[in-house]
Amino acid sequence: MKRAAPTPKDKLIFALDVPDLAQALGYAEILKDHVGLFKIGLELFVKEGPGAVTSVREIAPNVGIFLDLKFHDIPATVVGAYRSAVDLGADFVTVHLSEGSPMIRAILGEGETGTTVLGVTVLTSTSADDLGDIGIDPEKFPEPGELVIHRAHMAKEAGLKGFVSSPLEVRTLKEALGDDIIVVTPGIRLAGSGKDDQKRIATPGSAIRDGADYLVVGRPIRDSVDPVKTAEEIVREIEEALL
Ligand code: C5P
Repeated sequence: MKRAAPTPKDKLIFALDVPDLAQALGYAEILKDHVGLFKIGLELFVKEGPGAVTSVREIAPNVGIFLDLKFHDIPATVVGAYRSAVDLGADFVTVHLSEGSPMIRAILGEGETGTTVLGVTVLTSTSADDLGDIGIDPEKFPEPGELVIHRAHMAKEAGLKGFVSSPLEVRTLKEALGDDIIVVTPGIRLAGSGKDDQKRIATPGSAIRDGADYLVVGRPIRDSVDPVKTAEEIVREIEEALL
């Protein structure tokens, strides 16, 4: 999808975290004029396949698609998956950065496709205690945050420009890598609302002020009694933070 400079609404990504297409299309219908992108993740994609992307796009042709499948395989296989995502017209896709630069270089070797690759450095569910279990030297990387910066540097050197990050790490990432990277942050909650299972959260306004380029919001909108009103509230906060 070709888009002009992002408006506050364009920076809001609604996560279609629902178990089937009927529910996804219900949310797509009511939210299509209130968000910039819909995120389709593993739950919906594994259930409904690529048809989920085409059906959502039919209902909401002006909303972008973030295909969050977090590719992780040998470079040739990941490039194949990336080409399929490009054919589907995805605006964003995600790739794990834990295998180093060959996978990234292979994807970026596809050139300008209109599908932006976002790197996942370390899952936010990974704690300092888990690092030793997965073979990471605790002397070199005592905390996940240090591994985040290490992998982000590696990926940027390989040419990657986009990253997924917790809102609490956006500022550090941009300070380390420069303002020209694109950072997409989940873990967004309106002030005074619950955290669900998210540990590292921020309000829409503070995430934007810290340099987030796009915000991913799922349950706060999905489970709201008035999803449109909640989406509008978030967009208003984004707008104020951008002033
Ligand atoms: O419901 P909630 O707003 O917490 O949804 C956040 C979305 O972002 C979910 O789709 C979740 O899978 C995704 N996500 C995340 N944390 C990450 C990466 C992705 O919450 N580190």
